Amino acid sequence: MGGVVVVGQVARDLVLAVDRVPDGGGSTDVTRRIEVLGGKGANQGVGCRQLGADVALVGVVGDDDAGRAVLAQARLDGLDVSAVVRRSGTTTALLVDVVEADGTRRLLEHVPDGTGLTADDVRAAAPVLRRADAVLVQLQQPADSVVEALRSADDTGALVVVDGAPADDAVRAAVLEHADVVRADEVEAAGLLGRALRGVDDAVTAATELVGRGPRVVALEVGSEANVVAWDGGHVVMPLLPTDLVDPTGGGDAFVAGLTAALLEGADPATAGWWGSAAAASVVARLGGRPALDRDAVAAEAARARGGAGG
Ligand SMILES: Nc1ncnc2c1ncn2[C@@H]1O[C@H](COP(=O)(O)OP(=O)(O)OP(=O)(O)O)[C@@H](O)[C@H]1O
Ligand SMILES: [Mg+2]
Repeated sequence: MGGVVVVGQVARDLVLAVDRVPDGGGSTDVTRRIEVLGGKGANQGVGCRQLGADVALVGVVGDDDAGRAVLAQARLDGLDVSAVVRRSGTTTALLVDVVEADGTRRLLEHVPDGTGLTADDVRAAAPVLRRADAVLVQLQQPADSVVEALRSADDTGALVVVDGAPADDAVRAAVLEHADVVRADEVEAAGLLGRALRGVDDAVTAATELVGRGPRVVALEVGSEANVVAWDGGHVVMPLLPTDLVDPTGGGDAFVAGLTAALLEGADPATAGWWGSAAAASVVARLGGRPALDRDAVAAEAARARGGAGG
C-alpha cells in the first residue's frame, strides 16, 4: 500500500474511566487511565499505519515535555513526524476523555490557538505532501491551512480525503473543487449541506448530490442507525455493526482510516465503506480514541458484515 499524509491535530490524550462521574463537590476513583498520543490527525494516522500504509503527520505540538512525549510515541508507532511543527511558546493540546461504565463520554479539550496549523506550516510540509498517495485533511483545522492543504494535495495528484465540516464558504468551495473523498458525521453533514439530514433515504440523496458536485466518494453518518457511502452510479447503506460500546471516541477517525486504506488498496467504494464501518466498530469497543486495527481482521469483518447485510 502507498503513503498517507494526515493533515490534522496532534495532541496528548488522557483517558480516564470511572464508574460514574461524581456530582459537583464529589470525588470518585479512576478505574483505568491511559495517556497516549492522540488528536484526530494522529489517531487517523495510527489507524492507517496499522492497516498497512506508510504514514506521515502534518500537525503542530508545543515546545514542551508533552510535545516531546507524543512525538516519541508517534515515532514508535512508525509515523514520520518530520513535518510536525514544534511551535515555541505553545503548549501541546491536551484532550481529556472521561468515560463512564455505561459508555457515556465527556471530553475536555485544551487546544491552544498556537496548535492550529497555518498555511505556512502546510507549505513547509511540501516535501512530505509531494510523496503522498493519499492526503487526509481534517476540516477542524484553521480555514486557510485547510485550503492550502487541499490545493497542494490536489496538485500532486494524491487521493484527497476530507473529514469534518467546512468552516466557511471558501473551505466548502475548496472541498468540492479538490476532494476525492468526503466523510462527515451527522452534525458535520448538516454543515456541509446547509441542512439537516432526515434519515437514511435523505442521506443517500444528499451524498449522491455531493458526488455530482465534485467528490468521487461521499460517506455520511446517519444518526445512530447507519452510514451511507455514495459514488458515481451507486451507493451502499451500512447499518451500525453490533459491538460492545465502551467509548464512542475515535469512531469517525477510524472510519476515515478504514475507508482510505481500502481505497489505496484499490478496493471499490462499497468495500471501502465496509472497511470504515468495521474499523469504527472496533475502536468504539475500546477505551480512548486510539485504534488497534489489524488489516486482515478489518477486511474479514467488513466482508462478513457486507454478506450479512446482503451486499
Ligand atoms: N458499531 C458501529 N458500527 C459502525 N460504525 C460505527 C459504530 N459505532 C460508531 N460508528 C461510526 O463512527 C463514526 C463516529 O463519527 P464521529 O465523527 O462522530 O466520531 P469522532 O470522529 O470520534 O468524533 P468527533 O468527530 O465528533 O470528534 C460514525 O460514522 C458512526 O456511524
Ligand atoms: Mg469525527
